[in-house]
Amino acid sequence: MSFLRIILIAAAFIFIGILPVHAKDMIVKEPPKSLSKYYPPESKQSKWIQQMHKMSTHFGGVFVNLKEKDFENVDIHADKLVEEYKKTSEMVPEWEDYFDIKAAEAFAAAAKTHDIAQAGKASGKLGKTCGKCHAENEVSVWAKFHWPSFHKIKVTDPISEKEIEFDDYMGSISASFKGVTVNFGEGQYDRAAKALKIFKSRYMELKSTCSKCHATQDVKRFYVGQDADTAFAGLSQELDSEKPNPEKFWKNIGLLGKTGCKHCHLVHRTNSFIQEMWEK
Ligand code: HEC
Ligand code: HEC
Ligand code: HEC
Repeated sequence: MSFLRIILIAAAFIFIGILPVHAKDMIVKEPPKSLSKYYPPESKQSKWIQQMHKMSTHFGGVFVNLKEKDFENVDIHADKLVEEYKKTSEMVPEWEDYFDIKAAEAFAAAAKTHDIAQAGKASGKLGKTCGKCHAENEVSVWAKFHWPSFHKIKVTDPISEKEIEFDDYMGSISASFKGVTVNFGEGQYDRAAKALKIFKSRYMELKSTCSKCHATQDVKRFYVGQDADTAFAGLSQELDSEKPNPEKFWKNIGLLGKTGCKHCHLVHRTNSFIQEMWEK
């Protein structure tokens, strides 16, 4: 055996040991390019999802009809499932290996024995092919095709009256928030009160962004609604008083930070993080 071959084999062992992802790690890889043609804007309808519903209906249809002893329809759904499964396997070349046509055919054959136990047993192998692809791709497909991007949104800053990117706007909100808390911590209540006015006006301006993605006004009850109003009123009250009460001040800061910033981030930022990785 040549030295090179030994090295290669050794390297293969080492890499096999290192490279495979730990079963419990999750990688959010950008979906393959060829999937895009089954989603808006390239396709009018979400054709990939329609295909999923077809397979799911026929898969479930087999068992519904087995239970009803409607064997004619069992056979129809079994054949249709194989047909749609094959069709799906040809839609995205990069995903071809997720499909196991033999498992689909074996399931159909088992279903056609009309013995529910046999069908159940054969369904496991087929079902696993669905489950593996879902586990590895559903999150990234949602981030790519279902989540609108914040990176295309601009906001007009009520202070400078300039239109800036959402991301930069967050930076300026964050800075004005600190203007309030830092000054308060230093006992400079006048400055804190001034900073609060700027911060409040910037924060409430966020309301203008919701309609870029949401069709209803109702969502504005959250983050920029009553809780925020109450917190801002409480902060103003403390800063306007002779001797501000630190406990009340920090309680309202905490409320705003949690039901405002944090809750909005927990809902909206996760997908923004994912999209940002792919844009880089
Ligand atoms: C090669 C990958 C892949 C395989 C194999 C696959 N799916 Fe899917 N499936 C997806 C993706 C990606 C989504 C998410 C689609 C979306 O939300 O836009 C999905 C979503 C679904 C949904 C939810 C649809 C919805 O309205 O949100 C169902 C139901 C479904 N799949 C059924 C199946 C069944 C049944 C099988 C096996 C017979 C299967 N899938 C095999 C990739 C796959
Ligand atoms: C870039 C797009 C985008 C912007 C801007 C945006 N959201 Fe959302 N938001 C979403 C998406 C997508 C969801 C997931 C569910 C959906 O589609 O409604 C969501 C979910 C929510 C939810 C969870 C409940 C629900 O209706 O789904 C709330 C509450 C919410 N947003 C409030 C707001 C508020 C308030 C604003 C403005 C301050 C805002 N959003 C701005 C995209 C956006
Ligand atoms: C409309 C919901 C919403 C509210 C309310 C909100 N944020 Fe954000 N914030 C976001 C989203 C979405 C991003 C990610 C933006 C992106 O990826 O472009 C973000 C990003 C940020 C960033 C990172 C900016 C960067 O340069 O990447 C900071 C800092 C930030 N927010 C601070 C705050 C603070 C402080 C508050 C409360 C005073 C707040 N945000 C309120 C939605 C919100």
